[in-house]
Amino acid sequence: MIRVLGIETSCDETAASVVAFDGGRPEILSNVVLSQIEEHAAFGGVVPEIAARAHVEALDGVIAAALEESGTSLGEVDGVAATAGPGLIGGLIVGLMTAKALAAAGGKELIAVNHLEGHALTARLTDGLAFPYLLLLVSGGHTQILLVRGVGDYERWASTIDDALGEAFDKTAKLLGLPYPGGPNVERQAAKGNAARFDFPRPLKGEARPDFSFSGLKTAVRQAATAIAPLSEEDVADICASFQRAITETLEERVGRSLARFRETCPGLAAPALVVAGGVAANKAIRATLESLCHGHGMRLVAPPLELCTDNAAMIAWAGIERLRAGLAGADAMEMAPRSRWPLDSGATPIIGSGKRGAKA
Ligand code: KG4
Ligand code: ZN
Repeated sequence: MIRVLGIETSCDETAASVVAFDGGRPEILSNVVLSQIEEHAAFGGVVPEIAARAHVEALDGVIAAALEESGTSLGEVDGVAATAGPGLIGGLIVGLMTAKALAAAGGKELIAVNHLEGHALTARLTDGLAFPYLLLLVSGGHTQILLVRGVGDYERWASTIDDALGEAFDKTAKLLGLPYPGGPNVERQAAKGNAARFDFPRPLKGEARPDFSFSGLKTAVRQAATAIAPLSEEDVADICASFQRAITETLEERVGRSLARFRETCPGLAAPALVVAGGVAANKAIRATLESLCHGHGMRLVAPPLELCTDNAAMIAWAGIERLRAGLAGADAMEMAPRSRWPLDSGATPIIGSGKRGAKA
């Protein structure tokens, strides 16, 4: 039985969790997430300085709560796993240094986890998924498709060349006067609107490269909104519906290319799967699009429960367990400094603009 305490502080959630694994089904013994949304809402986005301070204030209590809820003492855990990047450097410092202190004091293994690896391996925690599989990560800071071949073995197939998908939702919401975070509010408005009223672009449509781009879409929304301002409630709903339709159609075309490539690259899999993770995976229209797209490619869509799709520490604890089991915990973790940028596939050629905000993943 392995038990790991996970700590996540890379953006605006202060989170801690204890996950146990005895070789059968992993068990999440606790999963505490303290969101800072209210602290950032007035600014329409995450303010790094506020986030770092909030992590300092909250982290001790969140860790204590996670240990207590799990019925585990620090002495009983086998390791402490913390997000070491990518993300906002202030928060990363708070989380990783706290983990180092706990590991040193308790004589525990320290595992410095890449936040993206946490997202990438979650489907094994929730669904026991076997390698290889394809991952679509769509959050406020990242939009990428990764081939997940094994623990520590990732190949990035596609990235956004400008805005992340969640960022496009958030910026669209902001310019329409909808509250932060924008995604859920845009989705709510879209349900009431006419998706055929505005003809927004489908960025990169038809291009062979499998990447994403969303900034042109955001600009088109701004121009449409400016042209008919002041906006009625109906206008806002119609813009949201048309925007969301442009997104789902874009995903269908863009993601479809990688699904076809996956089927070619990994033939003969018993149950080929696309995993979707990140906050945008909450969007029902997007989920439905991905479901039918997967179906068309003879694949299944695996969507972990929402609280494990968005930022949390259970995924970090689990990545820690996976790394311990694979002998990849990293003996030099104690010397490791947090990294605001940290691509999963460090060998790949960088894509201009990918993950440029670096704040959320
Ligand atoms: O994964 P997450 O909680 O945080 C990080 O970005 O790491 O994702 C948050 C993002 C925000 O941009 C938010 O607007 C978006 O996910 N989001 C949604 C929905 N719910 C959250 N986007 C579209 N539709 C939604 N229902
Ligand atoms: Zn994330």
